[in-house]
Amino acid sequence: MAISDAHLLRGRILSFRRRPDGPDDTKAFRYIEDGAVLMASGSIIALGSFNEVLADAPESVPVTDHRPHLITAGFIDPHIHFPQAQVIASWADQLLDWLNDYTFPAEIRFADKAHGERIAKGFFDALIGHGTTTAVAYCSSHPNSVDAYFEEAGRRGMRMIGGKTMMDRGAPEALCDTAQSSYDESKALLEKWRGRGRALYAITPRFAITSTPAQLEAAGALLSEHPDCHLQTHLSENPNEIAYTKELYPDAPDYLGVYESYGLLGPKSLFGHCIHLEPREKTRMAETGSVAVFCPTSNLFLGSGLFDKAGLEGQGIRTAIATDVGGGTNYSLLRTLDEGFKILQLQRQRLHPLETFYWATLGNAEALSLSDKIGNLEPGSEADVIVLNARATQAMALRMETVETLAEELFVLQTLGDDRAVAETYVAGNAQKGSGR
Ligand code: GUN
Ligand code: ZN
Repeated sequence: MAISDAHLLRGRILSFRRRPDGPDDTKAFRYIEDGAVLMASGSIIALGSFNEVLADAPESVPVTDHRPHLITAGFIDPHIHFPQAQVIASWADQLLDWLNDYTFPAEIRFADKAHGERIAKGFFDALIGHGTTTAVAYCSSHPNSVDAYFEEAGRRGMRMIGGKTMMDRGAPEALCDTAQSSYDESKALLEKWRGRGRALYAITPRFAITSTPAQLEAAGALLSEHPDCHLQTHLSENPNEIAYTKELYPDAPDYLGVYESYGLLGPKSLFGHCIHLEPREKTRMAETGSVAVFCPTSNLFLGSGLFDKAGLEGQGIRTAIATDVGGGTNYSLLRTLDEGFKILQLQRQRLHPLETFYWATLGNAEALSLSDKIGNLEPGSEADVIVLNARATQAMALRMETVETLAEELFVLQTLGDDRAVAETYVAGNAQKGSGR
């Protein structure tokens, strides 16, 4: 083999093949003690034992030895707000007050392209620092902010999804577009960005409260004209939000019914939160293959409620797990898994760490219909790889003295870890966090 930019990573390898059925389902993943990943031209070329991969690698391939750390696929964050990088950690009331008090004022500043560019740098640094290699983001309602977002993603070679937030009422003038301008601007942006480098576009009506029926109709038209795009919005997060939505859309059978009547449901549709769904809504989510996105740190921070993972999945609803920064309180998928674990504990749902790590990687890739490209380390996948150090802090190292199994180690990472536990983040084969940066 003669690929000029080949690079071999040595370490303990964890790569999921599918969702683990339970703690003993070892066929759901590959775990290799002395393993290697061979990357070239942005993709994974080979995965296996170090000796085997080295034997087939180009002569004198550079080797980075990450032992004793764990090498796995980059984390995927399927719901995050780029213009909320300076909203995170604001002393909040519940959802609607938090939006008015902190979020809308912060998003107004993204009318200025230079502001968006500066925040984009910090936002992407935070993603990389926390081991997130793909995210699905809401930009602000200003097309400028979408350009700033994708330009920064492009500089870093990241597979990022995002879109202009469509909102034509219920917010300050300076944030509101119109049904027609939101259609025109979103169309121009998606034609400009989707498929450029690794960029993908998400049509992004914020939620029913900030969209007139005409705007949701425009979003539905865009989606039917561009079925390769994702759609993202918020659904059933907070009781006051739900009640107000029903006032604004009195003819809809329920909250999801609003989106349904404009053709917004489907397998590429991502609905943030889905906490207080009614039986009909659950049935329609399942029937349409729509995705319910769990945002645990946000749901706790805004006092929104408890996501019923087992109940939703038991009905056949696809799920994902995300940070929802800045309603969410941390960029880290490790912190997110920990808080998600606790929310499920309160409902007597005991999530196993093999399943949580599957969820944050391959599970989220499947929820985005991107598992042929990202989410694990199988040959042919894009080379988005992270290196996790379960002894990153003194307290973690002390706890690790008694750890004997992979599952125990994952649980330590999830419960005690954050960006300090991410030793390196490779994006399309390039080290972007640690010494390689
Ligand atoms: N609902 C509408 N907009 C938002 C937002 O920015 N964050 C959250 N958590 N919920 C929303
Ligand atoms: Zn959100």
